[in-house]
Amino acid sequence: MAKAKKAKPLPIGRILQNQGFGTRAYCYALIESGDVLVNGEPCVNPDAFFDLNGLHWQIGEQTWRYREHVYLLMNKPAPYECSQKPQHHLSVLSILPPELRARDVQCVGRLDVDTTGLLLLSDDGQFIHKNTSPKKNVDKVYHATCAQALTDEMLNALKTGVLLHDENETLKAVDARVLSDVGENVLELTLREGKYHQVKRMVAAAGNHVEKLHRVRVGEFSLPADLTVGEWVFLELG
Ligand code: URA
Repeated sequence: MAKAKKAKPLPIGRILQNQGFGTRAYCYALIESGDVLVNGEPCVNPDAFFDLNGLHWQIGEQTWRYREHVYLLMNKPAPYECSQKPQHHLSVLSILPPELRARDVQCVGRLDVDTTGLLLLSDDGQFIHKNTSPKKNVDKVYHATCAQALTDEMLNALKTGVLLHDENETLKAVDARVLSDVGENVLELTLREGKYHQVKRMVAAAGNHVEKLHRVRVGEFSLPADLTVGEWVFLELG
């Protein structure tokens, strides 16, 4: 996450433009039309300077606050692609409001089209790197519903390492356990890397097959129980 800098006051028209609300001309016209309340007060002068600290504005029913960067946590639905240029399905970015899409928000790592669950999104390059670089050792926890019950041999293979096609070294899970409360075929797998189809390929190499995949945690971020599939929330990190 970027270090908080002491930002100097800026004209509200420019702030709205930088925050993804449209072109300079659009933001200036929006303010002049009287449709924006700034810090709770009507403001029709786009050149009026405002302190960024604690700044908030209201357009229609919606209140926004100034964010140097945005950090989002989504419960990714299927079938959606984690790509800015999706090929066969909609992008998860299409779920976000245009103000966030305009800020170049990106997925923090990728989930497969048919995978659901915790997906982080941000426009902060440092945050993206910190949560995706293999060197940073960030745990990713998945719940995989498999075709067959998990055996001890399969769990051991996942924990001691399996050799995947096109990889030179074996890959091992940080942890692999059966979620017996849910079903003998439901695996909780914790990985540190984020290789292509890694869970599905590792489970296949261990002699089983993933039918459904759901991510529940990335590092310090867990999927809130009340966040339904397709919903997202701001993470207040900045
Ligand atoms: N591993 C997979 O196989 N698929 C995902 O979506 C994520 C990890």
